[in-house]
Amino acid sequence: FSNFLTDKFERQHSYLRISLTEKCTYCMPEEGVDLTPSHKLLSTKEIVHLAKLFVSQGINKIRLTGGEPTIRKDLVDLVGELGELKQYGLQTLAITSNGIALKRKLPELVKNGLNLLNISLDTLDPLKFELITRFERVMETIDQGIALGLRPLKLNCVVVRGVNDQEVLDFIEMTRTKAIDVRFIEYMPFDGNKWNKQKLIPYSELLDNIRNKYEVVKLLDDAHDTSKAYRVLGHVGQFGFITSMTDHFCGTCNRLRITADGNLKVCLFGNAEVSLRDLLRENVPDQQLLEIIGAAVKNKKKQHADSVNYTDSIEQLHSTKVSWYKKK
Ligand code: GTP
Ligand code: 5AD
Repeated sequence: FSNFLTDKFERQHSYLRISLTEKCTYCMPEEGVDLTPSHKLLSTKEIVHLAKLFVSQGINKIRLTGGEPTIRKDLVDLVGELGELKQYGLQTLAITSNGIALKRKLPELVKNGLNLLNISLDTLDPLKFELITRFERVMETIDQGIALGLRPLKLNCVVVRGVNDQEVLDFIEMTRTKAIDVRFIEYMPFDGNKWNKQKLIPYSELLDNIRNKYEVVKLLDDAHDTSKAYRVLGHVGQFGFITSMTDHFCGTCNRLRITADGNLKVCLFGNAEVSLRDLLRENVPDQQLLEIIGAAVKNKKKQHADSVNYTDSIEQLHSTKVSWYKKK
């Protein structure tokens, strides 16, 4: 395994998250942000160049994220080119999407090598969802993904107190017959998303509520899972919790990120380390790129906050929080 992608705590990074767009609803202020002009975003050629370099160093899983990745016009072609990297050791090509504009593209994406799908869905109440037709489209896309063999299809649900916490048991009901993995995510603070401690529901509280109604068993977690997995006895699907706030999982983190404008980030809560885009555009040779990437990886912090106690760590998360949508 490449030395470049191993940090000083011996964490080997095998999972690269590539952000394709900056547009997303949760992580930016309501008034929106100034988006980066497109020439500042990575081109498809640049993304493929970087992906190939990372795969040559042991990355075996790539996830396309955003903002919303389906906003990118050439998504199908990009997935096709990334799919080619399977001959060089890439095993998993994944996408995280809100599912609104995915249905038409999904069969082609799967044909081009996509083999894992996570859908962000925070409410099962069509009225809360902006438009009913859109909601129905997402529900159809979930069934379509399962039918196309994208299993386990994960549903990401960010639980916010007073907003959608009443729906947790409805999501659990969905696992009765559908082969999905519903993951309840602890709400995290990012620039301008109006996060506060009251809005955060610790996963232990949700689990207690679920246990009050259902018989629940703990499942085994894979080494690098972000979530703690459970199943209601007799249900087809499973559920889990992504406990970034009350029980972080930095010790097993194997993820690196590339932002839509080409910055390398070694931690979700970290700052951009280096502009790979600028280096590519200066025609820096691959070996030198690897050394620069390696230096950033070596500097990765042990964890994103010093304390595992969420009431303490919140202040620290705030102080290290990132502008995903930096104003230019
Ligand atoms: P899999 O690849 O299927 O394991 O999914 P994933 O959980 O890695 O990716 P996804 O895009 O579905 O992200 C879901 C949630 O995981 C995000 O909202 C974050 O809360 C959390 N997450 C992903 N990566 C990180 C990370 O590096 N650090 C922390 N703290 N949370 C992360
Ligand atoms: N806290 C927790 N999760 C978040 N996501 C976006 N913003 C936040 C936040 N503030 C989730 C989305 C998406 C995943 C990639 O990140 O639900 O599924």
